[in-house]
Amino acid sequence: EEITTIKREYPDHILIASIMGDTDPASWQNLTARVQEAGADALELNFSCPHGMPEFGVGSVIGQNPSMIRELTRMVASDADIPVFVKLTPNITDISPAAQAAADGGADGISAINSVQSILGIDIESFDPLPSVCGYSTSGGYSGPAVKPIGLAMVSQIARTVRLPIMGIGGITIWQDAVEYILLGASAIQLCTTVMWNGYGIIRDMKAGMSAYLDRKGYHSPDDIRGAALSHLKTHQALDRSRRMYPVLGTRETCTRCGQCVTACRDGGYQAMKMSIDGPVVKRDVCDGCGLCFLVCSTGSLVATQEKT
Ligand SMILES: Cc1cc2nc3c(=O)[nH]c(=O)nc-3n(C[C@H](O)[C@H](O)[C@H](O)COP(=O)(O)O)c2cc1C
Ligand code: SF4
Ligand code: SF4
Repeated sequence: EEITTIKREYPDHILIASIMGDTDPASWQNLTARVQEAGADALELNFSCPHGMPEFGVGSVIGQNPSMIRELTRMVASDADIPVFVKLTPNITDISPAAQAAADGGADGISAINSVQSILGIDIESFDPLPSVCGYSTSGGYSGPAVKPIGLAMVSQIARTVRLPIMGIGGITIWQDAVEYILLGASAIQLCTTVMWNGYGIIRDMKAGMSAYLDRKGYHSPDDIRGAALSHLKTHQALDRSRRMYPVLGTRETCTRCGQCVTACRDGGYQAMKMSIDGPVVKRDVCDGCGLCFLVCSTGSLVATQEKT
């Protein structure tokens, strides 16, 4: 009923119906027929819910099992007259076989990621895991800015595995996050946590930011930059180790001689810095180029220099 109403009121907008059946394949077929009849433009198969569904043998349990992904996708795709997206779980060691299974089953696209399995915390006075439900709890899905690096890694793996459109999801909060997903191969992006925090109005701001970025860079469409960062991903072994980065004190005026960089370098394992009357000094022969000192300096006083090793 809601799908029909929304499509009647917003006929020019795309409505993607997310469905999740149970262990009986017929339940997926039934849902497919119903949302299609109601007017959905595309389907998203939820093979990734971490909230209780795995206890019933569905949700992320399906997304961890390539043969189940393949067979359920094949069944739905053969029934559906509209595009079928498969939503994958990050709660898996390697997402590539799952993406390949979706492609083999006839998916038209892949959505990733769903939320990351987590325990929110423990009340250290009562020992109750959080959120506490009468003293008990269970694991749940973590989302928002902290999961963006996980989403980016998984989307890049999917993009290198299958040639299907990808909807990038996970921690997208500002337009720059969306651009990063597109640079790693996403054709579209989805927002969840940021809309819950800031409202749908944030979409207008993000579109304006992306549009200004593309204009500034001289591109006409996101298609022009899609996947452009993928060729810059290599193995660890293939990275150029012939250069080393050293910190130098760039702006002596801003350095407060707080010693945070020296402490971090000492206890981070390298002992490559010592404090002088003018600020930190680096022992280049000991410096590993780890970058920890840059990270902890709150005044931005250190600048990177590169040298051939
Ligand atoms: C409160 C909440 C409810 C969610 N419900 C669903 C759901 O019903 N189906 C689904 O596929 N994903 C669901 N998700 C996962 C999001 O769609 C998204 O994949 C995940 O939160 C990561 O994106 P984000 O960092 O933008 O929130 C939910 C996430 C949250 C925070
Ligand atoms: S952390 Fe920054 S401000 Fe503090 S001593 Fe080091 S360079 Fe100076
Ligand atoms: S880059 Fe790492 S090893 Fe080098 S000075 Fe900074 S913290 Fe120490």
